[in-house]
Amino acid sequence: MNAPTTAAPVRAALSPKGMLIDGQWVEAASGQRIAIENPANRSRIAEVPRAAAADVDRAVAAAARAQVAWRRVPPRERGLALLRIADAMEARVEEIARTIATETGNALRTQARGEAKLAADIFRYFGGLGSELKGETIPLGEHVLSYTRREPLGVVGAIIPWNAPLMLGALKIAPALCAGNTLVMKAAEDAPLAVLLMAEICQQFLPAGALNLLTGYGPECGAPLAQHPGIAKLSFTGSTEVGKIVMRAAAERIVPVSLELGGKSPSIVYPDADADWTVDGIVAAMRFTRQSQSCTAGSRLFLHADIFDSFLGKLEKKTAALKIGNPLDEATDIGTIINAKQFNKVCGYVQDGLQRSDAKLVFGGLPPKTGPLSEGYYAIPTVFADRSNDWRLAREEIFGPVLVAIRWTDEADAIRMANDSHYGLAAYVWTHDIGRGLRAAHDIESGWVQVNQGGGQVPGMSYGGFKQSGIGREFSLEGMLDSFTQRKNVTVNLAV
Ligand code: NAI
Ligand code: MG
Repeated sequence: MNAPTTAAPVRAALSPKGMLIDGQWVEAASGQRIAIENPANRSRIAEVPRAAAADVDRAVAAAARAQVAWRRVPPRERGLALLRIADAMEARVEEIARTIATETGNALRTQARGEAKLAADIFRYFGGLGSELKGETIPLGEHVLSYTRREPLGVVGAIIPWNAPLMLGALKIAPALCAGNTLVMKAAEDAPLAVLLMAEICQQFLPAGALNLLTGYGPECGAPLAQHPGIAKLSFTGSTEVGKIVMRAAAERIVPVSLELGGKSPSIVYPDADADWTVDGIVAAMRFTRQSQSCTAGSRLFLHADIFDSFLGKLEKKTAALKIGNPLDEATDIGTIINAKQFNKVCGYVQDGLQRSDAKLVFGGLPPKTGPLSEGYYAIPTVFADRSNDWRLAREEIFGPVLVAIRWTDEADAIRMANDSHYGLAAYVWTHDIGRGLRAAHDIESGWVQVNQGGGQVPGMSYGGFKQSGIGREFSLEGMLDSFTQRKNVTVNLAV
């Protein structure tokens, strides 16, 4: 799709009618609102309700009422609603994409448009899975019928972040509804507008209360949602720090929890892969065109010593060709960091790298203080070379375009360093030697390893983290069954 729609529908997305509770567009009980900023120019673009505990109560009550009927809708019919949502979203991809770009600073061409299409595709994928909510029969003998049912859990409490808000929102809504649950979802305070638009589209095909969408801050709205006694399942995507808070809340009431948290994902490049295609793959894996605000960013680059300098030279050339600028401009490759807090955090890491005597700045650095890029939260792709995997920049999730390159000579060493992290979300291996590549893939402690490609998630693959990167899987049939259903066994004595 390349014909941009008029600005008018986007303006509508920028004037939301409120948040969604029980099929109605409402303000917060307190009447308070949150201002939403465009990170490309720091202008205020919209206001959304500032939900708190009273609103959470209302939304959970609505979802619980809707659950009674929704769980009895035949699964394929629930799927049909999701398929209709997918079609309706696809028809409005351009409007959704421009909204994402405006509120998040993610570039329209390289990121926002693809995300809008993927979100529609997620609804389509789960829309076809209704009849896969199967149980088993257990052969206990001729006199007994023993079988299992996959039943919904009830009301799902979902909390999503701002970095890929539509995709991550769709990943909670579609499987939860397909499995017969209803939801109360909280959008991220920095990026609620496209998610509100998605909820508006969903609501056209769903009964009132099946999906409730709240806008509000984490401690004020997310925390009461996580603690609410009416919630039967918590599904969270965001920082490891808040993931722990959500898990503690779940422990209080013994409710199941899915967590998709941070990452510090390694890329291991073997000496036979010193080529342009690998460099393109590293740029993709590092998610430079998303300002690296991605939990799967391949932000630790383990390069074999023989190719260390030549590879970084090629990487510098490729990265320099990426255009940083207005996210809505079709020529732009790289947009902005989401907000001032994250921008300052990223700059702090760059500052740290510049001051460290062992680290060498390969390219990039601090953002310009004057000129057009200083009008927004624009960070520039930055690479530091270092000998050690032990310093802060190589261990902490930066969530910005700062890559650390580390050299290796011994393969076992490379894998040991790759695994020396409390995260284990994604990983990338680059080599023509497929046996070696697969051995490395099997040795790496991550939920998702890609060999010779740096792409994004595709519906159907079970996605989720090892270690502190999370618990549970998303994006797949198995993820839906494990995360959004509970098994019941029914055993019948046929001898009476
Ligand atoms: P965050 O984890 O604070 O925010 C994610 C969601 O959790 C938001 O909707 C927020 O309102 C909510 N939240 C915050 N505090 C909460 C609480 N006490 N109870 C319930 N919900 C709460 O992430 P933030 O502050 O936006 O970003 C900080 C760092 O987190 C990033 O630099 C990055 O390292 C990591 N992050 C990882 C993401 C991922 O996709 N795994 C996404 C976003 C951030
Ligand atoms: Mg936070």
